[in-house]
Amino acid sequence: MAAITVQDIRRKKGAGEKIVMVTAYDFTMARLVDKAGVDMVLVGDSLGMVVQGHEDTLPVTLEEVIYHTRAVARGLTGPHLVADMPFMSYQLSPEQALANAGRLVKEGRAQSVKLEGGERTAPAVARIVEAGIPVVGHVGLTPQSVHAMGGFKVQGRSDAGAQAVMRGAKALEEAGAFCVVLEGIPADLAAAVTASLAVPTVGIGAGAGADGQVLVCTDLLGFDLSFTPRFLKRYAELETTIVGAFQTYAAEVRAGTFPGPEHAFQRRSPQEIKRLY
Ligand code: KIV
Repeated sequence: MAAITVQDIRRKKGAGEKIVMVTAYDFTMARLVDKAGVDMVLVGDSLGMVVQGHEDTLPVTLEEVIYHTRAVARGLTGPHLVADMPFMSYQLSPEQALANAGRLVKEGRAQSVKLEGGERTAPAVARIVEAGIPVVGHVGLTPQSVHAMGGFKVQGRSDAGAQAVMRGAKALEEAGAFCVVLEGIPADLAAAVTASLAVPTVGIGAGAGADGQVLVCTDLLGFDLSFTPRFLKRYAELETTIVGAFQTYAAEVRAGTFPGPEHAFQRRSPQEIKRLY
């Protein structure tokens, strides 16, 4: 499969083809999503919650995103690879944003970077794009602003909130973003934003009107069956399968039935061993 470019992703909107994005954080998952033929893979700062066990994404560092992006890059042959810019890696100035975006591309091997925020993030987006690094924007429920939002809450429900999301998405497009993630906003607002942008939108918790969809890999695979937000559809229930496999392994080790003779290496026959020792 030929590698998917920014131009391919933009073309999909014109052609009315949906864009499929999913997160991955390591080589093993990257190899699997690559085999499945998704269009875009995001090394999200959701890794702070999914991989590291934090309650939000704020503690994630640039070094950690670089580390995970390098691992994912080794598993991909086709999908376009996006790396998240973590909290405080782009907020200080457009120059700081460019320097850190450059590290994600140069050291992490990302093909584009994603920044959260609308109008206030547009100058950083413009600076990064100007340097030749493609950018994905992200508006609506922006998890790095969890404290400002008072929790992980749907955004854009009020008229003023909806207008702010629309303005933010337009500012990102004007700044040169080639794609905009719409997270946690009403479906009608997502559809209106999608209709007013020339660049594609990718939704999560934003209804069916976006140009594509993104989900966190472990959520859609059902690694944690207690996580049941409304926006999530589980395509597998791997928590059950994986825990069951570990339990069977533990039981067989304890019973002495694993490893069997078919899993062991023999260098000498039992007679020879008896003679030797
Ligand atoms: O960090 C992440 O995984 C994300 C997606 C949910 C869009 O930003």
